Amino acid sequence: MAITNPTDKLLFEVSADGRRCLRLPALDVPKVDVKQALKGVKLRAKPAPLPEVGELDLVRHFTNLGKKNFSTDRNFYPLGSCTMKYNPKINVTLLSLPGFTKAHPHLPEADLQGHIELMVTLENWLSEISGLPAVTLQPAAGAQGEMTGLMVIKAYFDKKGESKTRRKVIIPDNAHGTNPATAALAGFETVTLKGNAEGNVDLNLLRSLVGPDTAAMMITNPSTLGILEPNMAEIAKILHAAGAQLYMDGANMNAIQGMVRPGDYGVDCMHFNLHKTYSVPHGSGGPGAGPIAVASHLEPFLPTPRPVRNADGSYSLDTKRPDTIGKVRSFFGNYGALVMAYIYMSQLGREGVRRNGENAVLNANYLRARLRGVYHIQNDKACAHEVVFTDKKQHTENDITALDIAKRMIDYNIHPMTIYFPLPAVTGGDGAMMVEPTETESKETLDYFVEVMKKIAQECKENPELVKNAPHTTPVSRVDEKSATTNPQLYCPMCIA
Ligand SMILES: Cc1ncc(COP(=O)(O)O)c(C=O)c1O
Repeated sequence: MAITNPTDKLLFEVSADGRRCLRLPALDVPKVDVKQALKGVKLRAKPAPLPEVGELDLVRHFTNLGKKNFSTDRNFYPLGSCTMKYNPKINVTLLSLPGFTKAHPHLPEADLQGHIELMVTLENWLSEISGLPAVTLQPAAGAQGEMTGLMVIKAYFDKKGESKTRRKVIIPDNAHGTNPATAALAGFETVTLKGNAEGNVDLNLLRSLVGPDTAAMMITNPSTLGILEPNMAEIAKILHAAGAQLYMDGANMNAIQGMVRPGDYGVDCMHFNLHKTYSVPHGSGGPGAGPIAVASHLEPFLPTPRPVRNADGSYSLDTKRPDTIGKVRSFFGNYGALVMAYIYMSQLGREGVRRNGENAVLNANYLRARLRGVYHIQNDKACAHEVVFTDKKQHTENDITALDIAKRMIDYNIHPMTIYFPLPAVTGGDGAMMVEPTETESKETLDYFVEVMKKIAQECKENPELVKNAPHTTPVSRVDEKSATTNPQLYCPMCIA
């Protein structure tokens, strides 16, 4: 008979009636009749069937569960497009200071001086990096930054009386998926721009699409193919000549920060993903921050309140802005995320910001060079901060897919890279494997990754079933991902009385 360690069981399975972590003292206040106190509220007929366990069992259960998880603190996490860089502990240590944790956004302005100064400083840094004069920190994610940017652009055209005619947003097929989704949500019609043979913008095609009905182009630079768009200045000229705006998805600023300023080549509006580029931890949906930077003609439309430095050196929150699009997030956005980005950037300084970008690009190109010939490379030329391999070779030779390879990486304690993104339509039908090492990894870790990827390529040839059935070291082996999304079982059978 198999012996199971109780720490490997569900809490419901080890639950025993009456077991407690904590016993409350006898009631020393008058007893309240809950039904009476919550009159009109739907109450449970009987108590919820919660597991009853002792403290030690509870601690072991969650400690062991935590160890089964992947995190940048424990594993290499080259999840392309997500920039899973290490988050220095000092970010959280300083954010835990009572000056931050006990501050309330409704404090009078006089007591918020340090906080407003921090926001003004962070805005100034992002402004310097983007080459654009005004920034708002309010959007809580990259996608919300995109939405805010398009709302600002719409408000600008409203003011000029052109918003009824400018209905189209042009989006290259190598853009991040949130770009077309945002444009549609913002009420625009999206027009897909097919890339040229190199995966860049086809200028002639763009010229043929831009017209008086164009509101903007949304371009992800570097693109999701991990390559830089070489013709940004020309693209900006084409749009501006037609009175349209150039929006840049700057979530991939890790590749160009401190080296190129988007405002200098004509970008009118862009967003940052602080939770990618400036180390704010993210995953599972946040909390993050997606500030936008804009050219001066778009500044009047930014969300309120605007943190400002007054002539006498004091700080205030400016709400008297007649053309503002209003608020896009409560109070000042995800303030904790802003504080962490501020701490991270202040540690780096100007030189450090640039060095991060250079090292992120160097690391991605190192992996590209070392794995050339082992895996097919979508665009085998200098890449930005991420490199896109595909499963073309392994698929053709051994019927092994990007998903199989990604699953096998788990057995080597490496988080799988992003797969099937960019979409097969952009990768010539092959399964993409998008690797983003970030600047925070050592050469030893990168070399380990290379050796693992070579070993897996060898396994694909010699023992394909091993790869097809991976992972083998996890509590549950290959799961049926399709059913997990199309027919999710979101209940615990043990909880159903
Ligand atoms: C290039 C790019 N644009 C936009 C986004 C959307 O950002 P968020 O997930 O914060 O909404 C991401 C997310 O990683 C991204 O990589």
